[in-house]
Amino acid sequence: MEQIQIIDAKNHVGQTVQIGAWVANKRSSGKIAFLQLRDGTAYFQGVVVKSEVPEEVFQLAKNLNQETAVMITGEIREDSRSKFGYEIGISGIEVVGESHDYPITPKEHGTDFLMDHRHLWLRSSKQHAIMRIRNELIRATYEFFNNNGFVKIDPPILTGSAPEGTTDLFETNYFDQKAYLSQSGQLYMEAAAMAFGKVFSFGPTFRAEKSKTRRHLIEFWMIEPEMAFTHQEESLEVQEQYVAFLVQSVLDNCDYALHVLGRDREVLEKYTKLPYPRISYDDAVALLQKNGFDDIQWGDDFGSPHETFIANSFDQPVFILNYPKAIKPFYMKPHPTRDDVVICADMIAPEGYGEIIGGSERATDYEYLLEEIRNHGLDENEYSWYLDLRKYGSVPHAGFGLGLERTVTWLAGIEHVREAIPFPRLLNRIYP
Ligand code: 4AD
Ligand code: MG
Repeated sequence: MEQIQIIDAKNHVGQTVQIGAWVANKRSSGKIAFLQLRDGTAYFQGVVVKSEVPEEVFQLAKNLNQETAVMITGEIREDSRSKFGYEIGISGIEVVGESHDYPITPKEHGTDFLMDHRHLWLRSSKQHAIMRIRNELIRATYEFFNNNGFVKIDPPILTGSAPEGTTDLFETNYFDQKAYLSQSGQLYMEAAAMAFGKVFSFGPTFRAEKSKTRRHLIEFWMIEPEMAFTHQEESLEVQEQYVAFLVQSVLDNCDYALHVLGRDREVLEKYTKLPYPRISYDDAVALLQKNGFDDIQWGDDFGSPHETFIANSFDQPVFILNYPKAIKPFYMKPHPTRDDVVICADMIAPEGYGEIIGGSERATDYEYLLEEIRNHGLDENEYSWYLDLRKYGSVPHAGFGLGLERTVTWLAGIEHVREAIPFPRLLNRIYP
């Protein structure tokens, strides 16, 4: 007898098969038992009819505990009443692994309780749907960059440099030296772009930020493309094409997950239309001031209410261009005619999800960069390899970083970034 996965049920209608699964839920009457079965690929219903099976099979079915692992034998049938479309008429059940007092029951639990049981919570249908969307974004990212001539290059995780500022670094011992967990692979990706032209990285990054917001993780995954012989305008086009491709991929391949999450497909479809609007930092400040945000002055960084207001004015992802130099990292290209702003952009997701991309054109001039490294209080000796890139064939180049979890949170339409990664590392949480 063939052993199949639930997701493939449609190819086995009328056949008797075996399925290894967990019992997510059950209900029964005197004559019939319904098992909600889950095998990691999908959920569907198993039906046990008392009059059609040996009495011990019916009794076993009625008494199965939540999350018992079972090997089910039965016939696949169409089931037009369920969204999934198929069910299994059960003829045999073998218990593979018992389960007693499973802590997560169908009733409501508090977030802390669920986070403490994250290793089990991942089994539930909503978490499952979110991880499917995350997986699709990972898959689509590789597809997009491979199809567009990018080479994947992996920057180190243990580093000696601080591309995004020295305040939120995780320090660790590296034998008799200090090292930091990477907060961005960008500087290494610039070296890689000079070697390969168009490159991207995809890896974990770490920020020891004391932020406790619904957008901040301590450990998160970032995609960092970098392109040689490329100015900011072309980089913005790559960014919007990439994000629209991610949205389209989720629409094409995550229909069931979107259904489970109650995410409206029509809302997501709007985000596949290009180009995305662009607004300068200057105009964004003016827009906010005109609309009653008297807490914002030219020169301030935006907080989430500001980003949300700007994004809501467009109803699409929006680029905010050319921020004040004083609030951005040392490596950004200076503006050709103004010395108060740099050539950069953040992409702000709609619906209040905030910044999902930070990027810029990079400074190419050796003397300028050296001065900026000094101005930012960084040790120039640690950056001499980076400065070499400006000594040996320096070219215009630009790149960006997209935060995977922020993008998952937005496309899944969920409240908090902590549910967008399997095991979140948060300010007060490194368990489980
Ligand atoms: O804007 P950031 O700090 O940019 C960089 O690190 C650049 N070096 C990228 C580059 O140009 N190669 O971070 C980029 C993105 C943000 O837009 C956000 O999506 C995500 O990374 N991000 C976080 N996501 C979750 N938790 C945090 N604490 C994050 N910090 C940044
Ligand atoms: Mg940023």
